[in-house]
Amino acid sequence: MSTKTYTLSNGKHIPWIGFGTGTAFYGQDASGPVKQAIANGFTHLDGAQSYDNEESIGAAIKASGKQRLDLFITTKLSPNFTLAPGESLKASLEGSLKKIGTDYVDLFLVHSPLAFRKDGTLPALWVAMEGLVKDGLARSIGVSNFKVEDLEAVLAEASIPPAVNQIELHPYVWRSAKSIYDLCKAKGITVASYNGLSPLTKGKGGPLDGILEDIAGRLSKDYGKTVTTGQVLQKWLIQKEVIVITTTSKAERIHEYLDAINVPDLTSDEIAKIEENGVKVLKRVYMKNAFAEGE
Ligand SMILES: NC(=O)c1ccc[n+]([C@@H]2O[C@H](COP(=O)([O-])OP(=O)(O)OC[C@H]3O[C@@H](n4cnc5c(N)ncnc54)[C@H](OP(=O)(O)O)[C@@H]3O)[C@@H](O)[C@H]2O)c1
Repeated sequence: MSTKTYTLSNGKHIPWIGFGTGTAFYGQDASGPVKQAIANGFTHLDGAQSYDNEESIGAAIKASGKQRLDLFITTKLSPNFTLAPGESLKASLEGSLKKIGTDYVDLFLVHSPLAFRKDGTLPALWVAMEGLVKDGLARSIGVSNFKVEDLEAVLAEASIPPAVNQIELHPYVWRSAKSIYDLCKAKGITVASYNGLSPLTKGKGGPLDGILEDIAGRLSKDYGKTVTTGQVLQKWLIQKEVIVITTTSKAERIHEYLDAINVPDLTSDEIAKIEENGVKVLKRVYMKNAFAEGE
């Protein structure tokens, strides 16, 4: 893989940016956009059982002609999965592997802690997740939408700690997400973000509008070409060593996203300004059921 990668706690590498098949493509055939993403340089693909389109990833990979080793594939356990008698986590992942057309995923995530938090089975679920690594079906395992208390419940029992926690992360959830981010950093859990462009795509009219424009203007001069406000938001994540999970239907946007890593750094004053103003708003968009009101 030629893309810049981060090293996970188990020594495996993960590309800094991933192409998602949820949100805009939820429940739809995403093979065209995924094929376009691979053709234009994405190597990291982010799927989920609940998106109901894992076959799209398989079809796009097949059409791309890429070698399996050149790609990093993530999928996520259905939030409807339970540890009830007769249910098998292994069989669940095997179902995904069949749809994707591969014999392993690079990363398998618990999509939501909610059901397991409610009945106290997070540690038991995690033991089953560890079995998937031992069986060779997942190279790395991790979690998504986990709060501090959920991470602590898993870490207390884990012999393989979660490699990744994929969470909604942008300045308009920073007030709530900072404690999760800090715990992940302290425990060697790599944070991945989704909805990172939210202040631009869903939060216009907020206190960051002018600040992001000003920073994009300053960076455009230093970079010698246009830097967008979306790239400023992605750069904020990159400088926190957070993986960017994004998506698009447009080839030109793919180039914009992949170039974010090359944009000159935000200054510490710019980062402080983004965070001081970001925390004035709390605008969570996804997985609200896993967080209390105001979290
Ligand atoms: N773990 C979880 O619970 C969870 C939850 C949500 C999402 N995810 C994952 O994260 C992936 C990405 O999520 P996201 O969609 O929230 O990512 P995002 O990076 O915040 O937003 C990407 C979307 O923004 C649009 N966009 C980009 N720049 C824009 C601009 N300047 N103006 C207007 N629209 C613009 C793109 O549309 P265009 O097609 O127009 O470019 C695209 O649909 C999902 O596909 C999924 O894989 C995971």
